[in-house]
Amino acid sequence: MSLLLFWSSPNRDGLTAAAKEALLTGISRAGTAYEEVQLNQCAVLACRACGDGWGNCHARGECVQHDDFSQLYLAMQKAEGIVLVTPVYWHDLSENLKCLLDRVRRCETGHNHFLRGKPCLLTACAGGSGRGAVECLQRMEETTSHLGMTALERLPVTRFNRSYMLTALCGAGEAFALWLQRGKDGSA
Ligand SMILES: Cc1cc2nc3c(=O)[nH]c(=O)nc-3n(C[C@H](O)[C@H](O)[C@H](O)COP(=O)(O)O)c2cc1C
Repeated sequence: MSLLLFWSSPNRDGLTAAAKEALLTGISRAGTAYEEVQLNQCAVLACRACGDGWGNCHARGECVQHDDFSQLYLAMQKAEGIVLVTPVYWHDLSENLKCLLDRVRRCETGHNHFLRGKPCLLTACAGGSGRGAVECLQRMEETTSHLGMTALERLPVTRFNRSYMLTALCGAGEAFALWLQRGKDGSA
């Protein structure tokens, strides 16, 4: 069993990085293997809305652009659970994560449906005023549910709740991994 965690801040020592570290500590505590991807280190171009707007992805389930997208999309398909951790920019997801999810949505909803039922855990880190964390989570959930994925938890992190949320995130990572180990219906 393995989990895939995407995080999308350029800062290696910020709130977002601390949040993903806490989640990974919990996942490790459950004894679950994981792959961590910092999207800022990846080349994922914006969707070109090619063709008549529906694109090759609608007909064939594949993007025509050659960058890191196909590899990341394949990793999402293989993972048993996906953890998304984004900084909050203007009450919204980071552009890196948005670019990835935009293109996944194109391939998934029009053609593939590989991610249907895939469990995910959503985390938004609002390091400024803290405003927008909930809106960001709402947008993440809208996109992931459009993909047919199942959000198990939505976690807002701010400068103000950091001290106790990091502990909670560790617990959330562990609970998510244990839930997956037991099987989605708890019967495995
Ligand atoms: C373009 C931009 C927009 C931001 N918008 C918000 C916001 O709406 N709400 C908020 O609390 N923080 C906001 N922030 C702060 C970020 O959420 C984040 O905490 C900060 O960029 C530090 O990132 P890090 O936590 O990954 O280190 C914004 C930051 C940037 C760069």
